[in-house]
Amino acid sequence: MPSHAVAFAPGRANLIGEHTDYNQGLALPFAISEGVTVRASGLPDGRIEAVALDVGERDSFLVDRPGQARGWRAFVRGAAGELDRAGARLRGAELEITGTVPRGAGLSSSAALEVALVLAMLAVSGEAEPDRIELAKLCSRIENEWVGAQTGLLDQIASLCGRRECALRIDFRSLDVRPVTLELGDFSLVTVDSGEKHTHAASGYNERRAECTEACRRLGVPSLRDATLTMAESLPEPLARRARHVITENERVEAAVAALERADMAELGRLLDASHASLRDCFEVSTPAVEETVGRCKRAGALGARIMGGGFGGHVIALLPPDARQLEGAVEVRPGDGARVS
Ligand code: GLA
Repeated sequence: MPSHAVAFAPGRANLIGEHTDYNQGLALPFAISEGVTVRASGLPDGRIEAVALDVGERDSFLVDRPGQARGWRAFVRGAAGELDRAGARLRGAELEITGTVPRGAGLSSSAALEVALVLAMLAVSGEAEPDRIELAKLCSRIENEWVGAQTGLLDQIASLCGRRECALRIDFRSLDVRPVTLELGDFSLVTVDSGEKHTHAASGYNERRAECTEACRRLGVPSLRDATLTMAESLPEPLARRARHVITENERVEAAVAALERADMAELGRLLDASHASLRDCFEVSTPAVEETVGRCKRAGALGARIMGGGFGGHVIALLPPDARQLEGAVEVRPGDGARVS
């Protein structure tokens, strides 16, 4: 059994396809180079001793009796609890956690933390890594059941399955993941922080998810993937608007894949703008700070710019042409490899 293991899991950017994952729809995310690292060292006594180095806090519990906690500790205890439930035989370990993804910013610091914890705990316990899609499901249960955010599988699959130079077209009904080369020529993708932080458990995220479930119940369909625009118009507001966003966003993902395949940057930009308008007007997850940030991107010459991730704050993603003006706070994002253990 190894006495040490280091796991790194990246955060993600999402080119397009927002709030589609828990509606069995489509998305086009990619893993970024920032992420969370967990250094695990085996302990003899069945305890987990976790240290969150960036916030200077500790947690300690018995690996087979994690109990409940809040904040970052809920992720560590959830990782132990879900691995145990899945039949992994975990040993005690010291876990040192550090990260470079800003927290609560729409770049998926939560999934990076879950994935790095789970991979480090498995590796230091000498347990084989399960299939990565199964692992993504396990990580999302940590978030759903231990942290209280009813998020989908977008972030976990992007972090686990990322591929250098590629975005991933994910079909959340079949869980088929297809790499799509992200060939942008002289254009670049950047993220810009709106400065507004959020937590999914506390924002309107869970409410949006509940509205989508209610829309399906009224339409008698298993998911919004099975709904059409005509069906959506029969719903009362705001459910009609919510469903319209999801249905049109799935279409925009397919159109974005096609635009990338023919290197049509103008069309890709138009799709990003249309996605943002739909997230603002139909799904209502934008905020004044996000609008201001999108406006700054557009004034700098962005071909398209949109809110990214769960919404209610966080980062904006923008497609910049080679002659874009200076855009304060813009950080270029490139697709990197998925999570790894060493
Ligand atoms: C967050 C969630 C994802 C997804 C996005 C919105 O990042 O964690 O599951 O729903 O919001 O697309």
